[in-house]
Amino acid sequence: MSEDQYLGNLYQRFPVTVEKALGSHVWDTDNNEYIDCMGGYGVALVGHRNERVVNAIKSQIDKVITVHSSFYNKTREEFLQTLINNAPSGLSQVHLNNSGAESIEAAIKFARKFTGKKKMVEKVSFSPYGDVNSLHDAVDKDTAFVILEPIQGESGIHVPPDGFLQEVRKICDENDSLLIFDEIQSGLGRTGSMWASEHWKTIPDIMCLAKGIAGGVPMGVTLVRPDILAVMKKGEHSSTFGGNPLACAAGTATLQALTQDGLIENAKNMGEKLSNGLEELKSKHAIIREVRGKGLMIGVELKFEVKDILMEGIKNGLLLLYSGRNILRFLPPLVISEEDVMKTLQILEKLLTNEENRRNA
Ligand SMILES: Cc1ncc(COP(=O)(O)O)c(C=O)c1O
Repeated sequence: MSEDQYLGNLYQRFPVTVEKALGSHVWDTDNNEYIDCMGGYGVALVGHRNERVVNAIKSQIDKVITVHSSFYNKTREEFLQTLINNAPSGLSQVHLNNSGAESIEAAIKFARKFTGKKKMVEKVSFSPYGDVNSLHDAVDKDTAFVILEPIQGESGIHVPPDGFLQEVRKICDENDSLLIFDEIQSGLGRTGSMWASEHWKTIPDIMCLAKGIAGGVPMGVTLVRPDILAVMKKGEHSSTFGGNPLACAAGTATLQALTQDGLIENAKNMGEKLSNGLEELKSKHAIIREVRGKGLMIGVELKFEVKDILMEGIKNGLLLLYSGRNILRFLPPLVISEEDVMKTLQILEKLLTNEENRRNA
């Protein structure tokens, strides 16, 4: 494919040229149809081309496409109001940016300035996930913040043991360290509640959002306690595109879709059906080691590499995501129907059987 000539070799690429998409379906340039369980890496949260999002973007395009944060804009104001109405209590100030990375960059900067401390504890590489004792050892009075995903996505969908997040909150408070939640993948209804951290009733000091927040338009959001953001002075942090009105219009529409169209409830219900079906497949297929997750954020760990299954999925009309070499990750749009969940399970059954046959051959 000619894109490869220019883009370097940074991504695992699949042989599908996407032409269009709607809801939880994608079509390629040969008009082959796929069920999208990859969900644009979780970005197609409220469904591809969600009607509310499409209408909001169309209507905003006819008004103004760019307004720098030096000026005021009603579309941005409406987004901020809608966002704060749905934010965890106490996180009532916002920095608008354009991606997950930028959202986290801002969070780190704010936390360092507020605490005056430099040391950070990051759950992925410095402290094993779910291990309270090791976190106790890692965090001390010099620690500016602890950052973690309430449910880990990239590392293969890891749900924390009950009580862990509450314990992390306590450790942070004891050390005057801030707690930052990265809800970029787990937030906005994906796990069957607005925030994954709600499952364990834990509120951070800063929360990072991105991926599906603007229905597919690039946007990052850093939600912050007001006293923390208050330490930042004019010009100490900025973003040229942050708060772009197109993204804000799409963001309000996304939040409305989540809260008014039953999508969070659907994530819970369809997530249960998908998880139950996957558990059933596990009981029949020894190559599945574990099924884990919440709502529509599910990982299936296999005993072998998943690459052939992903490629065969494409031939069978199913787009799947991976985590590492041996984990299948499901991040479908929250609008996915029961019919598509059932079809997904049927296709997967075939893929697992074929994989087992290949391995036994
Ligand atoms: C949990 C989490 N945090 C941060 C990021 C980085 O987001 P972005 O690629 O928008 O910079 C990702 C991206 O997959 C993510 O899953």
